[in-house]
Amino acid sequence: MDRKKFINTLSLAAFSIAACGNVREIDNTFRGDCETTNDILGPFYRPEAPERQDLTKEGLQGTVVEIKGKVLGKDCTTPLPSALVEIWHCNTEGEYDNDSKAFMHRAKWKTNQQGEYSFKTILPGKYLNGRLYRPAHIHFRVSEKNSLELISQLYFKGDPHIEEDPWASKKEAQARILPISLEDTKGNLVVNFDIYLKRKS
Ligand SMILES: [Fe+2]
Repeated sequence: MDRKKFINTLSLAAFSIAACGNVREIDNTFRGDCETTNDILGPFYRPEAPERQDLTKEGLQGTVVEIKGKVLGKDCTTPLPSALVEIWHCNTEGEYDNDSKAFMHRAKWKTNQQGEYSFKTILPGKYLNGRLYRPAHIHFRVSEKNSLELISQLYFKGDPHIEEDPWASKKEAQARILPISLEDTKGNLVVNFDIYLKRKS
């Protein structure tokens, strides 16, 4: 898909915003409203991405980073095992792999008994949306049998394009703009993204 078509498709993409950051009374107890907010699906999702945690391969250009966290229930504390986490993102040049059998920069993985997931991948680049660059981002689709499906995006703290992006600049996206941290003294980078799902009613 070329960029012009992407822009047209993007304008038609549905998105919704959930409440975030409130504390409210549910069943006579007060709970934080930690639910992860939605973002646009975008036009580049492909089903049938391979099950893998390591999206890198020898010779691949880019800065390697581990994206990890937990998938939790709406009570903000209960881990959700066997939640399916799908991610996809562009390469360092801002291009998505939309047709190759290699499914570059695309993967899915189920959370373990502690609700944990992790992927080893590279930091994505940026691409034009009209005359503006979208900030670097990783798309997420998360499904779990008792939860509502989440479609969202992760952004990176300090990205200069967040402010002008129609989606990343929303108040609801703030909890998804995350720092890239040094994980150890070897220089390995990590982003921790805990995901809170809303229970099916
Ligand atoms: Fe994207």
